[in-house]
Amino acid sequence: MNIAVLSDIHGNLPALNAVLNDIQNKNIDKILVAGDHITDFPEINEILQTLQELTPYVIKGNREQLLIENAKDSFGNDWEIYDQFSSHAAAFRLLKPKELSYIQSMPEQISLDIDEDFSIRMVHGSPFDMSEAIYEHDVDLMMRCTGAISEKLLICGHTHRPMLKYVGEKIILNPGSVGVSYCGNTTAQYIIIRYNADGLKFEMREIQYDFSELQKACKAALKDGYSKIWLSLLLRSVKDGKDYNFAFLNEVMKNTEKHGIQTFPIPNDMWNKTYDSWAVKDPLFLNVI
Ligand SMILES: [Fe+2]
Repeated sequence: MNIAVLSDIHGNLPALNAVLNDIQNKNIDKILVAGDHITDFPEINEILQTLQELTPYVIKGNREQLLIENAKDSFGNDWEIYDQFSSHAAAFRLLKPKELSYIQSMPEQISLDIDEDFSIRMVHGSPFDMSEAIYEHDVDLMMRCTGAISEKLLICGHTHRPMLKYVGEKIILNPGSVGVSYCGNTTAQYIIIRYNADGLKFEMREIQYDFSELQKACKAALKDGYSKIWLSLLLRSVKDGKDYNFAFLNEVMKNTEKHGIQTFPIPNDMWNKTYDSWAVKDPLFLNVI
């Protein structure tokens, strides 16, 4: 039994296509996809259509949940008012009714019995919360997570960093991110699980793809209201395999606190001013789209 595990595609269609191409000759029996398929890159309907045809083993992540909540009108006008949400708002406007129903129908977790010795629980964040990140330094959380499930293997995503940890008799596996990997290079990451009479083996894959294709898709998405700032940060993150988006959010929050103004939602002038200061320090941010 060979199982491909993908997570955190985040709207990056060139990266997903490269992974699916790589999977083709690997004798894969099942494909599992652990959430955050859409937002923050723009080709979201194409990705959801691909997943729906590809495999039944797809769960929702916090990004799908955000769009589902917005469909229930949970955020009022915030997504239209604040620049920090403009990429979410654009994704929501682009999302077709059929694709919205698809993400609404996704389960939060899947349990799979492969045979009597090997079973899998797949979650996006942790078994307790789809937005809770499991990092390898957090031994206490890893023990609580493996203690809370009966399955042998816990698959999670959310951190965009691959991880394989043995916790007693159990294993925690994070395949990293297809669309926005933080591993120091422009690659799409996923993992192949090989299970046979010799036991379990894990093969980490890093697949190169055409960054200029992604740039083109981002440029085209500006007319749909996608945020140039957010897309620039994402593109730079993807190019360097580093997390600029959270670094940027942290700096904006610090700036708002320093000025004694609201930290959430972030006022637009603080959002734009912080980005301008980044672009002055590193002009590549201005030229990435
Ligand atoms: Fe994610």
